[in-house]
Amino acid sequence: MSVPLMDIGAQYGPLRAEIDAAIAGVLDSGRFILGPHVAGLEAEISARLGGRPCVGVANGTDALVIALNALDVGPGDEVITTPYTFYATAEAIARLGATPVFCDIDPDDFCIDPDLIEARITGRTKAILPVHIFGHAANMAPIREIAARHGLAVIEDAAQGFGGTCDGTPIGALGDLATISFFPTKNLPGIGDGGMVVCRDEALAARVRRLRFHGSADKVVFEEVGYNSRLDELQAAVIRIFLTHVDGWNDGRRAAAAAYAAAGLGEFMELPDERAGVRHIYHLYMARHDDRDAISAGLAAHGISSAVYYGIPMHLQPVFAHLGYRPGDLPIAEACASRALALPMHPHLGADRAAQVVSAVAEVVGQVPARG
Ligand SMILES: Cc1ncc(COP(=O)(O)O)c(C=O)c1O
Repeated sequence: MSVPLMDIGAQYGPLRAEIDAAIAGVLDSGRFILGPHVAGLEAEISARLGGRPCVGVANGTDALVIALNALDVGPGDEVITTPYTFYATAEAIARLGATPVFCDIDPDDFCIDPDLIEARITGRTKAILPVHIFGHAANMAPIREIAARHGLAVIEDAAQGFGGTCDGTPIGALGDLATISFFPTKNLPGIGDGGMVVCRDEALAARVRRLRFHGSADKVVFEEVGYNSRLDELQAAVIRIFLTHVDGWNDGRRAAAAAYAAAGLGEFMELPDERAGVRHIYHLYMARHDDRDAISAGLAAHGISSAVYYGIPMHLQPVFAHLGYRPGDLPIAEACASRALALPMHPHLGADRAAQVVSAVAEVVGQVPARG
């Protein structure tokens, strides 16, 4: 039996009739942009995040750009972030003319290491942008403390973290702003592109709302250069359905992670960690091994998909060559980039398939020649 890396069809298949009805409802309503479903989704996500105002936008990348823009991040500013993330995180900073300053990660949770942040702060630093990578919350208490001491803003990139928590607080309510992606493979998916900005207060939300609509609050007076970046009604209508399932889906992911551990994966690969106080929601299940590429190839021969995230850390990407980083500068991120492998993970993976993956890993690792 083949095992895919993800299986979004298994998530929306059983909901197909409900989704079809929601889409038909939007078509019948004739309201396609910024209608009741967007407002409803914003209110429902806000209710999960302590009442913080939420603003739907076109995708998670725009959410980052608009959040940074709402903090007036621009040319000459620096934003401290992680090198071990999807490119959009760093791209958003650069898109505004600011400089991403890459800070190495904690080997246990793959997220930015708070102990290394302070050394990266300069007079130009405007914000810290942690990413809750793979569904595990960054260590937010020390990050917030450092930010407060230096007068910096904190933006959470929560694209991969919807439904996770850190010290009892949901991801998305841990910074000044947070950004969400509804890309179809995310824990809370859409059926296309979509995103959201979560704001600490109404003043920031008003600015974000204005930015998403061409810098205008009323479509008559244009106060600043903004964006045309709106979540559309069709997406919002469907995401509202998925929102009622996301916690159960995350439970399924956690059960799959537990099944990997119970089946003995830890004998063959380093397992992902869960820091005390964190609810990991396993957007991706990242295991580590020195011969990760051989394992990936061996699993493929068994019909089991796996994938590398993120093979080249951001500080070594060609687009940031002018920043002058060299291999070896951020050794933990570089080690993860060369050793981490995403194994199949989705809410319906189940214990049997997890065990199937583990026995294939065992067989493949048995075949990996000893190094040295
Ligand atoms: C960590 C991270 N940040 C930002 C994004 C950008 O989100 P989107 O694809 O919705 O623009 C993604 C996902 O694609 C992501 O994984």
